[in-house]
Formats: sequence, structure tokens, C-alpha cells
Amino acid sequence: MKTKAAVLHGVNEEWQIEEVELGDPVAGEVQVRLASTGLCHSDHHLRTGQSPAPFPVVGGHEGAGVVVKVGEGVTRFAEGDHVVTAFIPACGVCGPCSRGAQNICDEGAGLLTGLSISDKTHRVTQGDVGLTQMCLLGTFSPYITVNQASLVKIEDDIPLQQAALLGCGIATGWGSVTEIGGTRVGDTVVVVGIGGVGINAIQGAKAAGARHVVAVDPVKFKRDMAEKLGATHTFESMEAAIPAVGEMTWGTMANTVVLTIGEMKGEYIAPAMALTGKGGQAVVVGMGDYAAMDVSLN
Ligand SMILES: NC(=O)c1ccc[n+]([C@@H]2O[C@H](COP(=O)([O-])OP(=O)(O)OC[C@H]3O[C@@H](n4cnc5c(N)ncnc54)[C@H](O)[C@@H]3O)[C@@H](O)[C@H]2O)c1
Ligand SMILES: [Zn+2]
Ligand SMILES: [Zn+2]
Repeated sequence: MKTKAAVLHGVNEEWQIEEVELGDPVAGEVQVRLASTGLCHSDHHLRTGQSPAPFPVVGGHEGAGVVVKVGEGVTRFAEGDHVVTAFIPACGVCGPCSRGAQNICDEGAGLLTGLSISDKTHRVTQGDVGLTQMCLLGTFSPYITVNQASLVKIEDDIPLQQAALLGCGIATGWGSVTEIGGTRVGDTVVVVGIGGVGINAIQGAKAAGARHVVAVDPVKFKRDMAEKLGATHTFESMEAAIPAVGEMTWGTMANTVVLTIGEMKGEYIAPAMALTGKGGQAVVVGMGDYAAMDVSLN
């Protein structure tokens, strides 16, 4: 079918709304009419070239909508189902999936190759040119055709606009604190970078029962929102937070430090470690230049 998509043709170019051809679902695939999609900083990394993907790329990886077509052999979905996109597929049968680690499913190797994991061909095309679907999804379009492993079914009465954010920002931020960071009741948690991901780390820390929920962001609006949604303290920089976290924890520092800065750099590791207490964890969520090798660490 003909549809539209926001397409990126090269590094530092503008997103262009263009007509594209979307293929029908092949075996194992599902077509979804999207109601909503979010813009994650990871989409912006495509534009700056910090995440390499074959151009042209259809951006977007957090969406929600309704299944309109199912391909042969699809077992998980039927027409009319409400779904959220998953930015890493979960095949359910590879080694990591079998161990309950769907976040590192082996099919994730295909995330930015441009080819569908179903049959290694392009599902979105413009003439002879195959387009990459960001994270195998490409949700900057009214319709997507994706492998069933890239979708999660939700209840019909959940509003799709809000559900779209579960595709990346909410799951990533919340999980970084509760699953990876292992936050427990009474802990001190520091979240650095209060964007779409970080604000959900704040809410995860609050829900997990953290005593001190510390938000760090240079932008005042972000700090104000963090306070509204669960932060107990806010600071403009990690450097400003270090002595204050020392004081509020009697020198034991934070149990969990989550780095959700938009553009991650190696120089952020040293202050993050200074914020982290003995036996604590620093969780690097933010992404930076894929080729960067440097980390500053005492
Ligand atoms: N690991 C994953 O699975 C995963 C998933 C989603 C997003 N990400 C990455 O997480 C990061 C955050 O994504 P987002 O969509 O929330 O971005 P965003 O742009 O919405 O938010 C980034 C925030 O960082 C703040 N910031 C910038 N420099 C800072 C600094 N030095 N100290 C403190 N805060 C600073 C900004 O003011 C902004 O509020 C990005 O790098 C993104 O690519 C990773
Ligand atoms: Zn994302
Ligand atoms: Zn798997």
C-alpha cells in the first residue's frame, strides 16, 4: 500500500514527510494502523550520525495502534488487537529470551540493518530503494508492517496515545531503576538527564520506595517536572549533586545512579561513580557517539 513516512536521507538532513510503499505482511508479520508515536532521543542520534543506520531511514520506535492485517503463521495477534511496539524484538525462543532476558533477544542484532527479521528483505520501499525501519519498526508513519516479535498486545481500553510511550521511554526509564538498578525501599537514587526516559526513571524510583529521589538536569523545566513526578531533590549538575547526596546519605552516597543524558559521553562516568556508594550501581542508559572509546574513571 502507499502511505507516508518521516524519512531521513543522510546525516544532519531534515526529516522529510514522503510517500512510501509499505509491503503486506509476509509469514510471521503483522500490519498495524498506528494511533500515536513518540520521538525518542535515539531517533535524533540517527540524524546526528551518532547511531549508524543505512539511509534512507524511517524514524520512530515507540508507537501504539490497532492490528489491521496478519500474515501467515502469526499466532500472537488477530485483526483488531491493540498493540504497542517493542524497540527490541522478543522472539521467545533464542538463548537470552529463554532465560527471560528478552531485552537482549538475539534478533536485536538486526535492529539497524534495514532488513526485516522475517525474510531479510525491505518492507518499506521507494521505487527500487529499500528503506531502513528504525528498530525494525519505523513508527513515524500511519502504518507499519513488522514481525510479530516486535509487538506487545494491550487491553482495548488503554488510551493509545499514552500507551505509545510504553514502547521505549517508560519501559526504559522505569526498568533502568527497578530492574537493572535493583532499587529497594529506602534507597537513594540519582537520575541524571530528565528527558522522556529519565522522567520515567524518577517515577520508577518513587514507586520502588526510594527515600531520596534525586534529579539532575541543567534545564529548570525538567527539574520542575521531576519534582512534580516524584523527585525529592533536584540539581543542575552532577558536580552540584555530589556534596548534597553525601550529606543526605551520611556519606554513603547513592544505591543507584542512572545516566539518561541525551548525548552520553565518557567524561560523565567519573562524576557518576563519585555519586555511587559502596555496593551501588551506576546504570548507563544514554547513548552517545557509537565510535567513542574514551571513559574517564579514577
Ligand atoms: N539504552 C536504551 O535502551 C535506550 C532507550 C531509549 C533511549 N536511550 C538513550 O537515552 C538517552 C535519553 O533519551 P531521551 O529520549 O530521554 O532524551 P531527551 O533528549 O528527552 O532527554 C535528555 C535530557 O538530558 C539532559 N541533559 C543534557 N546534558 C546533561 C548533563 N550534562 N547532565 C544532566 N542532564 C543533561 C537534557 O537537558 C534533557 O532533559 C538518549 O541518549 C537515548 O538515545 C537509550
Ligand atoms: Zn527510544
Ligand atoms: Zn529472542
